[in-house]
Amino acid sequence: MKTLLSLVLILMVGLVHAQVSPVNLIPQPVELKTGSGFYTLTKVSTICFDNAVAKDVAEILVKKLNTASGFSLKAVPGNKGSVRLSISTTPDPQLGAEGYTLVSTTKGIVISANQPAGLFYGMQTLLQLLPKEIESKKVVSMKWTVPVVTITDYPRFEWRGLMLDVARNFFTKDEVKQYLDEMVRFKLNTFHWHLTDDEGWRIEIKSLPKLTEVGAWRVERFGHFGDREAPRSAEKATVGGFYTQDDIREIVQYAKDRNITIVPEIDVPGHSMAAIASYPELSCKKDTTTRVSPGSKFSDWYGNSTFKMNIENALNPSDENVYIFLDKVFTEVAALFPGQYIHVGGDECYKGFWSDDAGCQALMKQLGIRHVEDLQGYFMNRVEVILKAKGKKLIGWDEILDGGITPDATVMSWRGVKGGIEAAKMGHYVVMSPTTHAYLDYTQGERTIDPPIYASLRLKKCYSFEPVPDGVDAKYILGGQGNLWSEQLPTFRHVQYMAYPRAWALAEVYWTPRESRNWDNFVGRVENQFVRAEIAGVNYSKAIYDPSIKITKSNGKLIVSMECEAPGLDVFYTTDDAMPDRYTLKYTLPFTLPDGPVTLRVISYRDGKPIGHLITLKRDELEKRATK
Ligand code: ACM
Repeated sequence: MKTLLSLVLILMVGLVHAQVSPVNLIPQPVELKTGSGFYTLTKVSTICFDNAVAKDVAEILVKKLNTASGFSLKAVPGNKGSVRLSISTTPDPQLGAEGYTLVSTTKGIVISANQPAGLFYGMQTLLQLLPKEIESKKVVSMKWTVPVVTITDYPRFEWRGLMLDVARNFFTKDEVKQYLDEMVRFKLNTFHWHLTDDEGWRIEIKSLPKLTEVGAWRVERFGHFGDREAPRSAEKATVGGFYTQDDIREIVQYAKDRNITIVPEIDVPGHSMAAIASYPELSCKKDTTTRVSPGSKFSDWYGNSTFKMNIENALNPSDENVYIFLDKVFTEVAALFPGQYIHVGGDECYKGFWSDDAGCQALMKQLGIRHVEDLQGYFMNRVEVILKAKGKKLIGWDEILDGGITPDATVMSWRGVKGGIEAAKMGHYVVMSPTTHAYLDYTQGERTIDPPIYASLRLKKCYSFEPVPDGVDAKYILGGQGNLWSEQLPTFRHVQYMAYPRAWALAEVYWTPRESRNWDNFVGRVENQFVRAEIAGVNYSKAIYDPSIKITKSNGKLIVSMECEAPGLDVFYTTDDAMPDRYTLKYTLPFTLPDGPVTLRVISYRDGKPIGHLITLKRDELEKRATK
């Protein structure tokens, strides 16, 4: 009798458990209605598409389902199937080009959209509705349930970007594809590919072979970027890599199949040391000893974004050969990338070598330019003429506003949103990616735990980003993106660690209506994605489990306050050189640090188990952090 009771109980719990598959979507859809019950995908389920343009989406779905389930599902044309992908015969204006509806009942699932892009995102939603094991690359035997839901969904912004810097560190073709795979899971649609910088030129330009023979390679160095030894003369450059034009075409196609537009960046006139190492004649000094930087110190920074380059890294704007060079580069780049935009950088261009150059002085005189800074405007306008001749639009970092730009240029605001506001008020289109909210290279957790870099940016701050500043006409804000610079990214695993979960937060910022965003709800969905990432073998940061520790100073005393991003954590600490655990002091309210050579040690727990890192901060570090 007892055994029978237990059996019934187990069955009931199982049933209830299966029926309440929680819906945890990122980004949060515009409209989501949950119902009761679920549809179970089985080996006899049928997947169909009613329009040939939907075939590719159906094939991608079937491949993903079969990989994890071990089924042999096939995508077939028609409108009878348990999972139907349907292109609407009368387009629904509310859904636009990328929106979709997804209706799942106990009998099956219908995804409808105006265009394949919408079906693609409906499919991504379906994958997130399935159990987490759908992310497995090996067959898992289980019940493949989809909860009953009705979803209407479409993006807030058309530009939902993620940038990857492959210049400071090179990432392979397959790694780039993995980056794109992760983007689409969260409905990001614009891949900004930072292909050139002082530390490497990564794209084959057939008419300028030295760009990759020389510019793609640096000497081997280890350790913290910026502190490394400069190349020794005659030292061989062995570290790096580049994408052949065939590689680029392959990635462009891969992206296109996944509704991703690639915006290639050729960063000029500054950040061009790799190009100058290849063709020194493009610079003012024409120094033939210039080498691709291995991450050694080449500049002095004075705060307030002002700096001096000790090695020349800017193209010479007064030399017509530079424009011939750029024409060759952009001819090949424009032919490879079908998107309308080419990003031309324009950031952090040091003009000191221009000031001292007779050619630049003569050009300034000829143009009636008084400030050398304004030569950048001249340069950018020349670049734009080149791009226009290839049928492309110019986008650049917000420095392109300095010295004047043409009305058609689009601005990517990175030094805060100030440049973006100014540009939008002048009628330029703008992509918002400010350091304050969208710089994914910044440390996301405790600075003494994560590899150190310029600044910090927590997940919660990313999530609080509002891309349309007050007083700006929203029609000029194309959207936003997250920027992942790779100075401190030696491996692709670490790329993932820095990108996630912050890229998920930005994905929701750029997709979901502002009024539907909710941090408490989001962070729960993030934890659900952690489990999925784990199964997919995708790395991510667990910084949400580490408290952010704030120190204020009052009457010479240090006051410690701590805040966690994840819910349900208990934070324990010591100030007596004992190791903290759940039996030591529990943090509840800000406290005063005892005087003396005290070290603060902190660790967070959940459900009685440690979940965060052990954080150890000595008094001098705490003093440094103190704000009045
Ligand atoms: C930039 O971060 N230099 C655009």
